[in-house]
Amino acid sequence: MAWPEPCHALNGLFLRLIGGNDFKKETTSKQGRTVPQNIAMNTIIEPFRVKVVEPIKMTTREERESYLKEASYNLFLIKAENVIIDLLTDSGTAAMSAGQWSALMRGDESYAGSASFYRFEATVRDIFGFKQVIPMHQGRAAERILFSIMCSKESVIPSNTHFDTTRANIEYVGAEAVDLPIPEFYQPAVNHPFKGNMNTDALVEFIERVGAARIPLVMLTVTNNSGGGQPVSMANIRQVRAICSRYGLPLYLDACRFAENAYFIKLREDGYAGKSVKDIAREMFSCADGCTMSAKKDGLANIGGFLCTNDDQLAQQEKDLLILTEGFPTYGGLAGRDLEAIAVGLEEVLHEDYLQYRFASIRYLGEHIADAGVPIVQPPGGHAIYIDAHAMLPHIPSLQFPGQALAVELYREAGIRSCEIGSVMHAENHSENGTEVPSSMELVRLAIPHRVYTQSHIDYVIEAILQVNARRESIGGYLIINQPKFLRHFTARFEPVEKLNGLSSLRKTYGKQILLQH
Ligand code: F0G
Repeated sequence: MAWPEPCHALNGLFLRLIGGNDFKKETTSKQGRTVPQNIAMNTIIEPFRVKVVEPIKMTTREERESYLKEASYNLFLIKAENVIIDLLTDSGTAAMSAGQWSALMRGDESYAGSASFYRFEATVRDIFGFKQVIPMHQGRAAERILFSIMCSKESVIPSNTHFDTTRANIEYVGAEAVDLPIPEFYQPAVNHPFKGNMNTDALVEFIERVGAARIPLVMLTVTNNSGGGQPVSMANIRQVRAICSRYGLPLYLDACRFAENAYFIKLREDGYAGKSVKDIAREMFSCADGCTMSAKKDGLANIGGFLCTNDDQLAQQEKDLLILTEGFPTYGGLAGRDLEAIAVGLEEVLHEDYLQYRFASIRYLGEHIADAGVPIVQPPGGHAIYIDAHAMLPHIPSLQFPGQALAVELYREAGIRSCEIGSVMHAENHSENGTEVPSSMELVRLAIPHRVYTQSHIDYVIEAILQVNARRESIGGYLIINQPKFLRHFTARFEPVEKLNGLSSLRKTYGKQILLQH
């Protein structure tokens, strides 16, 4: 349950502290790894004990091969019971604490004015500081309501990087989502302490070019999930705030991983080492006019979310729409007990012992595979490690989906479920002429659920990745044979390229769409 070296690399404890490094407030171990300074012992342990266990069904390679075929090589379509280690997402997959389970019993299920709502509202106000707190069943419900009300077909919404559901909800109302990250964001191997930052020059240029009238709001995703779970610095949040104020634009944070972002600020930004994570989070939110939140991440809850704003009039419109589609504004599509679990989770996620352990465990995975030559997005993120599938499988063209190929291979090898974040998820589809523009990066995300897996689970993942890496040249690409209009990664069906022998048979079987992927 601790985090030293895995048994195949017994050359010293992971958490032995020696020397300094580039990122402030972190120190470097003998192996060049960065860890926070303020620990008395060399070994960081999970700051919790296990009270309830959930058995894992072990599967054979043959069984996994047939599950893959049944699921058309889409890992979202594999039954969870057939997954050995599930790193698909950190969303809604947290193990709840004894405190959360006991809070469930306090849940007040009154339709209107439930006591659980007021406890939830008080906690959210205390940390996030916004006047209006509107519960939602999850993050994308908050996005849908926000964009339905604030956007028109002419709208363009800039962000450091929009998450896929955020982008899809913007596009669903006919508006345009624009990503303006810093250049380093697109360079997986490049180290930068705040790689999630918004490119503020590009933001100003963008506002000047399209005109503030077409921009109903500016967004910042903290941490920046789509490209590595990378943090946004307080300085960058403040600069974006200043630009928004100059042009009279509201700033919203996509706050899913706010606690991880705040802890990165504490570790890496001048002037924050002595501040509590809660105070840093408050400072982040004090720069914004509102936020969307999926409590399934840093709310440590299995379901839930909220939408916040300081604008009473806007909140009224949002609540009216909420009543139509989610529920009454004191429950917003959630049970009273869910609101209780979120309230407790939001406090627990700010415990610094917890965040210290979480960062150590994610770094442990990232550094062990990187040391063995697997290309990852550097530095390791707050909730996940992202493998650069383009660099690992350079022989697979982007539109044969190297990320999907790697994700399938990890499942085949060891029953590990990961998530492609590349051209399956983000390629631009030009339906007018049937062409596709690949994503700028081809990543595979290994997201670590909160409080679920121990070090031996992660050692197993490391071993599997290294085995797949050793035979990477033999891995082939995939083609999509069927896909929906929006968010295709959830339900698309794939076939290995090697099974679809020759372009002429492809043309006959699958038509124009597949051909254009070459
Ligand atoms: N914003 C970000 C940055 C997210 O990562 C997510 C969800 C959402 C919004 C939407 O929230 O799922 O509660 O509706 N991300 C999950 C993931 C699905 O796996 O990263 P939701």
